[in-house]
Amino acid sequence: MAAKACNILITGANRGLGLEMVKQLVAKSCSGCQIFAGCRDPDSAKSQDLRELAKKHPSLIRIVKVDTSNMQSVADCAKKVGPLLGKGGLTLLVNNAGVMPHNNMKTITAKEMQDIFSTNLLGPMMMTKEFLPYLQIAAKSSGKPGMSCSKAAVVNVSTVGASMAKAHEMFELFNVVGYRISKAGLNMMTVCNALEFKEDGILFVALHPGWVRTDLGGHDAAISTTESIEGMLRVMESLTEKQNGAYLDYNGQVLPF
Ligand SMILES: NC(=O)c1ccc[n+]([C@@H]2O[C@H](COP(=O)([O-])OP(=O)(O)OC[C@H]3O[C@@H](n4cnc5c(N)ncnc54)[C@H](OP(=O)(O)O)[C@@H]3O)[C@@H](O)[C@H]2O)c1
Repeated sequence: MAAKACNILITGANRGLGLEMVKQLVAKSCSGCQIFAGCRDPDSAKSQDLRELAKKHPSLIRIVKVDTSNMQSVADCAKKVGPLLGKGGLTLLVNNAGVMPHNNMKTITAKEMQDIFSTNLLGPMMMTKEFLPYLQIAAKSSGKPGMSCSKAAVVNVSTVGASMAKAHEMFELFNVVGYRISKAGLNMMTVCNALEFKEDGILFVALHPGWVRTDLGGHDAAISTTESIEGMLRVMESLTEKQNGAYLDYNGQVLPF
C-alpha cells in the first residue's frame, strides 16, 4: 500500500479501529500519499485524538466529514474528496464505520434495525457507489496487472459473527441479531461487488478484525487495536486477485460464509 503514492479513505476514523488504522498507515506512508480520515463529527470531543494526529501530519491526513448513515452526507463527501484525489484516483476505500446495538429478536424495533442497516450496510454500499469512478481511475492509472490494495481496492470491515456457517456455534455467545444480519448483508455485497467489478481490476474483500478492545468490542475483548490493525494491514498488503471476494480474518485465515 505504501510502495507508491496512494489515496486512502477510511470511514469511522476518529476512534477505535479506524483511528488505529490511520496511525499505522501514517507510519507506513510515503511522500505524496493522502489519508482521508472520515468521521461524522470532526469538531466533537470524540474526534480530538484524530484532530491531534492530523495536526502532526498536515500534508498526509485530511479529516473529512461523513455520516455513513446519511446518504446526502456520503454524496457530499464524494463531492469534496473526489477533486482532491487527482489523476491517481482512490486507491483504497476502507468501509470501517459500524454500530452494534445490543438487541435480540425480542427487543429490536424496526427503527433500530433500519438504523443498523443504514450504517453497516447502506453506508458501505453508497460509499462504494459514490467512489467507484475514482476507484476505476486508480485501477486504470496504476499500470499494474492483477489486483491489490496498492492498485484499487475496497475493504469492508465485517465480523466473524456474520458467518452463517458459524451461526450455531456463536449463537449463545453473540446474539446481536441486527448487527449480524447487517454484516452478513455486507459480506454478500462484497462478493457481488467482486464479481461485478472484476473487469475493472478493483479488489473487494470482507475482513474480520478479531475481537478487539474498543468501545464496540468491550474491555474483555481478546486483542488490542494495535495487534488487530497490524494483522489487517499485513493481510491487506498480501491480497491479490486470488482473494477477490474473500472473507478473511486479521490473520489471513479464510472464514466460511
Ligand atoms: N471491536 C471488535 O471486536 C470488532 C469485531 C468485529 C468487527 N468489528 C467492526 O470493526 C469496525 C470498527 O469497530 P470498532 O471496534 O472500532 O468500533 P468503535 O470503537 O465503536 O468505533 C466505531 C466507529 O464507527 C463510527 N461510526 C458509527 N456510526 C457512524 C456513522 N453513521 N457514520 C460515520 N461513522 C460512524 C464511530 O464514530 P462516532 O465516534 O461518531 O460514533 C467510530 O468512529 C466496525 O465496522 C465493527 O463492526 C469490530
